[in-house]
Amino acid sequence: MQGFEFNTVRQIINGPGSALQLANQCRSLGIRRPLMVTDPGLMAIGLVPPVLDALSAEGFEAVLFDQVREDPPEATVLTAADMGRSQDVDGVIAVGGGSSMDVAKVVAVLLGGKQALAQLYGVGNARGPRLPLILVPTTAGTGSEVTPVAVITTGETTKAGVSSPVLLPDVAVLDADLTLGLPPAVTAMTGVDAMVHAIEAYTTRHQKNPISDNLARQALELLARNIRTAVHDGGNREARENMLLGACLAGQAFANAPVAAVHALAYPLGGHYHIPHGLSNSLVLPSVLDFNTASACELYAELAEIVVGTPLQGSAEARTAAMIQALRELIDDLALPATLQAAGVDEDKLEMLAEDAMLQQRLLVNNPRDVAYEDALAIYRAAYREAS
Ligand SMILES: NC(=O)c1ccc[n+]([C@@H]2O[C@H](COP(=O)([O-])OP(=O)(O)OC[C@H]3O[C@@H](n4cnc5c(N)ncnc54)[C@H](O)[C@@H]3O)[C@@H](O)[C@H]2O)c1
Ligand SMILES: [Fe+2]
Repeated sequence: MQGFEFNTVRQIINGPGSALQLANQCRSLGIRRPLMVTDPGLMAIGLVPPVLDALSAEGFEAVLFDQVREDPPEATVLTAADMGRSQDVDGVIAVGGGSSMDVAKVVAVLLGGKQALAQLYGVGNARGPRLPLILVPTTAGTGSEVTPVAVITTGETTKAGVSSPVLLPDVAVLDADLTLGLPPAVTAMTGVDAMVHAIEAYTTRHQKNPISDNLARQALELLARNIRTAVHDGGNREARENMLLGACLAGQAFANAPVAAVHALAYPLGGHYHIPHGLSNSLVLPSVLDFNTASACELYAELAEIVVGTPLQGSAEARTAAMIQALRELIDDLALPATLQAAGVDEDKLEMLAEDAMLQQRLLVNNPRDVAYEDALAIYRAAYREAS
């Protein structure tokens, strides 16, 4: 076996209502005045106020920053940090999806250390120290609550990652009650994102390790068995709990066994068309898996029964084909657009998207099969017209 490293958060607290107990975590981390990072939508639907009230009932008056935008731009991070600095906060809490959690992670580093935002991008550049950090996901999801990564929008069409163990929070709090009202489309997209995390972690070329493998398998089981119920019967608490846990396990898997070409080809779609992260992944997933089959079908075959949900016979190629077919049917059942065309992408932009995807070498090097420009273009073309 290859040597490996595995890093994750110190504490995960899982249970309904756990978001209403954050005062306990504040006390044990020595936080007295937390910055609460969230987005305006979550305030408007009343998801965050009870969390703030529960904190305040225990004597913790949080400073509220509720202006996180989806795919958060640098300006959001800097404004949140300014607010935290001027209000003298001593800890950071996020209640929200990947966007809010990623902002909170970077803000905790900006407020706790001496580095400027521009110095943080890349791998291992954020050094800390940071302020105490508690992350509470409301999507299931990015797994950002257990990854050492934050993704920030740096230009019109570009995103940059901050990756450093210092971004792992002190505590991740999984409270599925917060996800009961997640709309079907967001549930579907974010759920497929989590499934992609598990699949790509399992087949990553570098840093594949037995802990991530086990997490990925269990994550995929939880996600594949529950995503339809979570989308079509959103109030089903058991399905929501399983999705949230599945996303968290997948996050721990890919935090240590990184994602690859699905994510590399998804990012340009988010950049140029503002297609949400999970949908971007879903749109290219079957075509990337088709492309990868030549190199990865033994590993895909190991996941196929988990995805399909019934025992499978036949060659690794046949089982892989069954898995890809099951994923196509899933995307259809979840009412997600299945082709780039249906998602509003222009056919004459595929070359530009392929050029952009080639810039994601950080991810492409993890792919089980080498991806050249022509390959990326062929994958986008297949994803464009798949259903027609
Ligand atoms: N840090 C990481 O490891 C990592 C991994 C993958 C993606 N990301 C990043 O995460 C971001 C995407 O995060 P996301 O997919 O979780 O979505 P998000 O945080 O952007 O939120 C999407 C929308 O869903 C709404 N929403 C969230 N929770 C809700 C709930 N419980 N009920 C009703 N509405 C709710 C939000 O208000 C928002 O409008 C992107 O910026 C992506 O690049 C980060
Ligand atoms: Fe993702």
